[in-house]
Amino acid sequence: MMAFSIHSPNFSTYFLLICSSLFGVSFQETRVSTKNMKFQLNSGDSIPAVGFGTFLIEDTELVHNILDTALSVGYRLIDTAAYYENEEAIGKALKVLLPKYNLTRSDIFITTKLHPSNRGEKAYEGLQQSLRYLDCEYIDLYLLHWPGVDGENLTRSEVKKSRDDGWQQLVRGKKDGLTRNIGVSNYNIRHLTALLKNNHGIRPALNQVEWHPEYHQNEVLEFCQREGIVLQAYSSLGGTGNTDLMGNPKVKKIAEKLGKTPAQILLRWALQQNVAIIPKARSKEHMEQNIDLNFNIPEADMNILSNFERKKYDWDPDTVA
Ligand SMILES: NC(=O)c1ccc[n+]([C@@H]2O[C@H](COP(=O)([O-])OP(=O)(O)OC[C@H]3O[C@@H](n4cnc5c(N)ncnc54)[C@H](OP(=O)(O)O)[C@@H]3O)[C@@H](O)[C@H]2O)c1
Repeated sequence: MMAFSIHSPNFSTYFLLICSSLFGVSFQETRVSTKNMKFQLNSGDSIPAVGFGTFLIEDTELVHNILDTALSVGYRLIDTAAYYENEEAIGKALKVLLPKYNLTRSDIFITTKLHPSNRGEKAYEGLQQSLRYLDCEYIDLYLLHWPGVDGENLTRSEVKKSRDDGWQQLVRGKKDGLTRNIGVSNYNIRHLTALLKNNHGIRPALNQVEWHPEYHQNEVLEFCQREGIVLQAYSSLGGTGNTDLMGNPKVKKIAEKLGKTPAQILLRWALQQNVAIIPKARSKEHMEQNIDLNFNIPEADMNILSNFERKKYDWDPDTVA
């Protein structure tokens, strides 16, 4: 199979099911607009393959204007977190913008995350707080942002207990209808294996991780696909203010050859491995590029992109018990 190789029968079933039932085509044919492309979650819900990241977009007016543009361009997934301190601004903006674009709550997918400094049992309160800020009846996907507890010196067993307590509260939140799906972020295989062994009745729907040509853990992708967990990439472009990846000569060369921008190459590289993406952009031009990914990167170029020297830009979950 070409660069679209799907490793797991489970994942392939989810994936092809959503593509064929919604669009009547297979992803490989690239006729599905990436604006409409979705991945199936193990709960039965589906999630847009391309979402919109909002880290460091905080000011209320700025949030409104950026989301206005993002919705007009076609984004239907908004990724936020308690840590980003913009949930309230997003909630306010959506109250005005959904009617503006003739959309209802169910037309959009909201992901938010427990504050990384919030300890296990506080997860339920965190979820309630996010709901209040976002001013909506339910969240589509609520994630444990970080496998550890930020800002506290805990023993290894306390960290593990906190993680388990947190997951238990997310399960409670899903059962109570506060969130439709629950998942994790920055979990490595060790964290995921422990969670799957003791999942309190609900498996994680998604794992959101740093993922780009300089930092992609194939074993995490294979693990997630085998277990029916959608892998979603963050910092696909290297993160705010970092032009290392987009400026990489190999990325630029492939972009020139295919008549695309370096950002589109980096995003398509992830999507072509069935990894969902949530790029952040402030300008309309960037937003349009980042969701317009209906092209194929040839296998040889996929291989070049997949063999960069390893470099990590964000926090490292391997340091967490
Ligand atoms: N779970 C976690 O721990 C975690 C960690 C980090 C991020 N995230 C999530 O993932 C999202 C995306 O990651 P990120 O914000 O770190 O960064 P990113 O999406 O990798 O990169 C954003 C940067 O790329 C620029 N950019 C966007 N599109 C471009 C284009 N087409 N051409 C050139 N430059 C472009 C943006 O500039 P302009 O703004 O000027 O367009 C911005 O500076 C976040 O917003 C957040 O929602 C999650």
